[in-house]
Order: sequence, then C-alpha cells, then structure tokens
Amino acid sequence: MLDRVSNTPVLPPEIARRRTFAIISHPDAGKTTLTEKFLLFGGAIQMAGQVRAKGEARRTRSDFMQMEKDRGISVSASAMSFDYGKNRFNLVDTPGHSDFSEDTYRTLTAVDAAVMVIDGAKGVESQTQKLFEVCRMRDLPILTFCNKMDRESRDVFEIIDEIQENLAIDVTPASWPIGIGRDFIGCYDLLQDRLEIMDRADRNKVAESVKINGLDDPKLADHVPAELLEKLREEIELVRELMPAMDQQALLDGTLTPIWFGSAINSFGVKELMDGISNFGPEPQVQSAEPRKVSPDEKTVAGFVFKVQANMDPKHRDRVAFVRLASGHFKRGMKLTHVRTKKVMTIANPVLFLASDRELAEEAWAGDIIGIPNHGQLRIGDTLTEGEAIRVTGIPSFAPELLQVVRAGDPMKSKHLEKALMQFAEEGAAKVFKPSIGSGFIVGVVGALQFEVLASRIELEYGLPVRFEPSQFTSARWVHGPKAAVETFANANKAHIAHDHDGDIVYLTRLQWDIDRIERDHTDLTLSATKEMM
Ligand code: G4P
Repeated sequence: MLDRVSNTPVLPPEIARRRTFAIISHPDAGKTTLTEKFLLFGGAIQMAGQVRAKGEARRTRSDFMQMEKDRGISVSASAMSFDYGKNRFNLVDTPGHSDFSEDTYRTLTAVDAAVMVIDGAKGVESQTQKLFEVCRMRDLPILTFCNKMDRESRDVFEIIDEIQENLAIDVTPASWPIGIGRDFIGCYDLLQDRLEIMDRADRNKVAESVKINGLDDPKLADHVPAELLEKLREEIELVRELMPAMDQQALLDGTLTPIWFGSAINSFGVKELMDGISNFGPEPQVQSAEPRKVSPDEKTVAGFVFKVQANMDPKHRDRVAFVRLASGHFKRGMKLTHVRTKKVMTIANPVLFLASDRELAEEAWAGDIIGIPNHGQLRIGDTLTEGEAIRVTGIPSFAPELLQVVRAGDPMKSKHLEKALMQFAEEGAAKVFKPSIGSGFIVGVVGALQFEVLASRIELEYGLPVRFEPSQFTSARWVHGPKAAVETFANANKAHIAHDHDGDIVYLTRLQWDIDRIERDHTDLTLSATKEMM
C-alpha cells in the first residue's frame, strides 16, 4: 500500500519507527561529542565520556593505530542502536580520517539520512564538503547541526549563506541562536515557538524550555536581556521573510536541510535535533537491487553487507559482517541464502550494537544493522535473502590511488602474507593485486596512512613484519568486456596484468596515455576505475 501524499509504502509501525543515519563532519567539529550526547539522551550510556577515546587522542597516528588494535572498541562504535521516544535510532559511524573515504562511502549506502555537524566558527570545511558530495550522489536527506555556539562563532546569516552556496542546498533554520560566544544564552525554537535556555553549569542537563506565544509574548523579556531580544525579533522577522520554511518533502528529497544551532558539549540543542530526526527524518527506504528493488515492508528478509571487520579477536580469526536489513522481520536462528554462493547460512549468533556492548540480536527489522560473525564467507556487497536471487546494487569499489609492492620481512612466510593480504582485501581495507609475471603482491589504497595501518595490522594480527616499497605502476583499472576479448588482451599484455582478490583482471600502468590508447584501440573493452562489489 502506498501513502497518498508521499507515494512511498506505508510501513508496519515497527519498521516505520526506525531512523538509520550517520554523522558526517570535518575532524574536530564535534562528532564524537554529539554521538555521546545522543547515546546519553537515548539512555544507552549513563555518563558522557564512556564511549571511546577523546577526539584529540584519536587524531595522532600512534593512537589511531592503538585504536585499530583495540578492535572491540572501534567495532562496537561502528553501529549503535538505542531508543529515543517512540523511535529506534541506528547510528552508523563513519571513519573520521579522510584516507578512509571508500569505507565512508560504503557506510553511507547503509543509512537513510545524515546529520552534518559543522563548527560555528569554521563553517563548511573540506571534509564536510567531500562527505556532503557523497550524500548528494545518493540524494540522502541531511539535517544540519551547527555546533560550538557557546564559543565565538561566525555570523549566523553568513554560515547559512555559506552552506547554501558551497553545498547548493536550501537551508531552513529550525532554531535561532540568541547572543554569540560568551553572551550566547540559548535558542529560539522556530518549529515549536519555544525558548530554549542553556545551562552552562551542568553540561549533561537538558535545556530549560519555555513555551512562547509568538515574538510579542511578554514572557520573552523575562528570559532574554533587552538588547538581545530586540536583535532576536529583527532577525527572526528576516528569517521568516527571506528563508524557506520547514518542508518535510524537500528534506526527504535532499534539496533542503534544516539547521539547529547548539553546543554538543553543553548538551544544548541536541534533543531538538533528535526530535527533528524523529519527526522529519526518513523511515527505512527502498533499496536498489537487481533484478528488482527491495521495499522495507516486504514480508521476507533481505539484507546486504556494507562493511566487514576482521580479527576482532586476534586469537580467533573471526570476522563480523555488518548487514543492513533492507526488508522483513529477522529472527535469530533464521536460515538465509547467501546469494553469491547460493549457500544457506543459519544465522545463529547475530549481534546488535548497543553503545559499548554487543548483544545477541533475537530479532531485528528492516532498517536495523546487525553484525554476523563468520569465517570469511560474507564479503562487502553480498546479499542475504530468504531464497530469492536478489543482488543489492550501488556498493562500489574504487580504483586505488596509490600502489606499492609489499614484501614479507621473512621470505619464508610469503604464504602467510598472502593469507593476510586476502583477508584485508575482503574486508575492503585495501586492494590486493597479484601480477601475472613475477612473484609478490601489489597493494593499492586510497590514502597513504592506510599503508601504515596495514603494516601495523599485519604485524599485530599475523606476527609478520612487512615493508612497503614503491611500485613501477601508479594506476589500476579493471578490464571489462566480453570474456574472450578480455582474455586475449590479458595474454598480449602480461607485463601489465594482475588479478584482484576476486580473480578479476586488472590493468596496471603509470601512464594515463596508455589507458586512453587501449580504450581507443579496443572498442570492445573498458578500463574502469570502479567495480561494483558482488
Ligand atoms: P570530532 O569527533 O568531530 O573530531 O570532535 P570531538 O567531539 O572530539 O570534539 C572536538 C573538540 O571540540 C573537543 O575538544 C571537544 O570537547 C570540543 N567540543 C565539542 N563540542 C563542543 C561545544 O559545543 N563547544 C565547545 N566549546 N567545544 C566543543 P578537545 O579540546 O579536542 O578535547 P577535550 O579535551 O575537550 O575533550
């Protein structure tokens, strides 16, 4: 059945109450702090500071490695479920470092909306802009939180202009700040005509809320100093005259973002943002797949793997596949078909991620993220169904931008190295290419820091010291075309050919000119910088 207004399916209440989203931001804007406050108000933690290391610590390289070592923590932070009011929130973490943009891209395929956090003093920063572009490619609805309003910030009209211009999206203020920096006292809630007063003394306290009967209400003067009140009235008048009003459909279409002003560290504005996600945020959406789309209200279960995390416990080589349920009502012990291999898997120990704990998932609904421990059968892009051969689409793999040769410190251990590399390739942490000629492997990544992380993980998880050395190649392209033509081409160009971990043929070169020439000379072949994971 379709909703008459939005033309989307009317979902069962258990599914309709789900809100699955990610937070995107530039490092330091306050993502960790905001996440913590979400969990606090969602009742998932009792105290701020419980979730994981502070922002500053995470940014140094050695601590980043330490965090990678501490698999348990980083995994439980990858997806967090908690209830807020009548809603179930599934917050999916995006890796903060810009070197992990591919992982981030895939994470964004598993959510229905994004919260964009910006620093009120800095506005739209580079990483925010990049992540926003990814959301735009998927038309994801975006809710904006302008943080750190307790400190000196930029002029509010200027911030809104910057978002509109740099990101080409309409902005509607959901709240309006009163005073700036030290004079900041709180916000006027434009959606509900309320005054929200910040309590600087208690950082975990919810703001005092006063119902106001429009801007002429004498109650305003009881809470707002005269000079700020006059400015507030003028500004709100301007806002209502010049800026678009809240429009849920425009938000859902990805053309309008509501903005809340607040201070995550002071818990201020956070509840209003959460209410915004509850009231206006999207329900679980239809998932693109072949040969047909999957709608969340379908009776049978379908889900897809968007992330694999290996070696959570180095003693047991187990992996957890993060699965976004696209439809149905999942129950523990269900038998699901792994579409790629056509094998049936009994999902005996699925986990739900509740703040810092993992818990067995007795049941889950479309929109939820569950973790499935496995021994390597589940890969990124895989689909699980109750039998139908559906393949979820739109989870890409990008050609790496940096290639290096990897060598084991101990040549006797090259078999172990191969195993470790395959594992990381399947996890999506790197591309691994086996050249047709010669021995050894070429590893490709998107950002240089990934080489360091890989070297440290191979040593830690497999006890193998490795070195990365420059490769003669700088670009990798998947060769697509009729099977016979691809094979003939590969045989004639052996010095440039390698196989990726799926056995697909890749052309390696250092010259863009080479790629252009091949495409010109071989009209039946394409050299592609992306490959769809399947
Ligand atoms: P991130 O995950 O986006 O990188 O940011 P994170 O939450 O770690 O916050 C970055 C810094 O900004 C932290 O300070 C944090 O305390 C501070 N911060 C977050 N929200 C607010 C806010 O509303 N107002 C103000 N004034 N500061 C805020 P830090 O010095 O790096 O760490 P810490 O020692 O304060 O924990």
